[in-house]
Amino acid sequence: MEQLKSIFTKKFHQSNVRMFFAPGRINLIGEHTDYNGGYVFPCAITFGTYALAAKREDKQINMYSENFPDKGVITFSLDDLNYKVEDDWVNYPKGMIRYLIEAGYPIDNGMDVLFYGNIPNGAGLSSSASIELVTGVMLEGLFGLTIQRVEMVRIGQKVENEFIGVNSGIMDQFAIGMGKEGKAILLDCNTLEYEYAPIELENHRIIIMNTNKRRELADSKYNERRTECELAVKELKNFKKINSLGELTVAQFEKLQGQIPNEVIRRRAKHAVYENERTKLAKTALEHHDLATFGKLMNESHISLRDDYEVTGKELDTIVEAAWQQEGTVGARMTGAGFGGCAIAIVETDKVNDFIKNVGKMYEEKIGYKADFYSVTIGDGAKEL
Ligand code: GLA
Repeated sequence: MEQLKSIFTKKFHQSNVRMFFAPGRINLIGEHTDYNGGYVFPCAITFGTYALAAKREDKQINMYSENFPDKGVITFSLDDLNYKVEDDWVNYPKGMIRYLIEAGYPIDNGMDVLFYGNIPNGAGLSSSASIELVTGVMLEGLFGLTIQRVEMVRIGQKVENEFIGVNSGIMDQFAIGMGKEGKAILLDCNTLEYEYAPIELENHRIIIMNTNKRRELADSKYNERRTECELAVKELKNFKKINSLGELTVAQFEKLQGQIPNEVIRRRAKHAVYENERTKLAKTALEHHDLATFGKLMNESHISLRDDYEVTGKELDTIVEAAWQQEGTVGARMTGAGFGGCAIAIVETDKVNDFIKNVGKMYEEKIGYKADFYSVTIGDGAKEL
């Protein structure tokens, strides 16, 4: 922190700096259900993005990231908040500024901002939603605004969808904006009703397994899955009044599924419906301290994402299958969009060292490069420090 402060002062010759933080997230279960109007069960982690900021007297905005020092300070004006390719990562905070102004929040001065993030890059732990939300709380703080947190979350998603052009759901911004220490959030993405669930794993830890395979293709395949699910809804609408797959129970889906002529589309829809059911069951299992059932549901989730939704890939499958073989593993699955990035496992605390050693070895032997492992602490959502 002190180091970041001194970099800020050197770069911007201002010392009245304020500090803000937004976490990354993992999703315990409920994958590719958010844009299908289903349930998700994510939590905020203690890795995240820091923003050190001070207002300016003029309309100039200077942004610098300690993660991309080669890009230097990127400068733009409050009078031109259009997306620009050459502005690179700065488009995320710029989009937030623009949409908050458009939503009626008075942001009428420039600012100097230093960002620093310790979320592993490209790992699927939502570094982009993290930078959106840290910008949100920063603007709220600097300009004395009162922004309903759910509105800030929605504006973050709008930046992703409309400014950046990734058609993602609301889970990441919601988890990062609304997270609470020690708790996961069961969110109904259809109504945005939510509930906090304490994560008390007693003698277990949540381990993040980073495949170090960047999520290539993630955006295009992601959009393809969305379209496939929309097609399934369109087919089923001829037989039942629904707006999203999240409205169907497993039993209703089983009765109707024969009406989807295309086998691939049928499997995509099956994942969305069953995963939604699993997410609700997982939350109940956790309430009853039934970790074994929770782990089993995680494993089933991965299998469904692998075989029916087809968003895992060799790296995620290798690491998760290696995790399943370890003594002390309660459950393991990919987390986030897939196609690379991270998986998570719940592991007995005193088996964690062996787990990391063995899974790491099996992964490197098969894939040819190393995986990274981090133990998760569930932290708070975006805030001023
Ligand atoms: C990405 C998206 C989320 C969600 C997940 C898959 O993280 O940003 O909205 O769809 O993938 O569950």
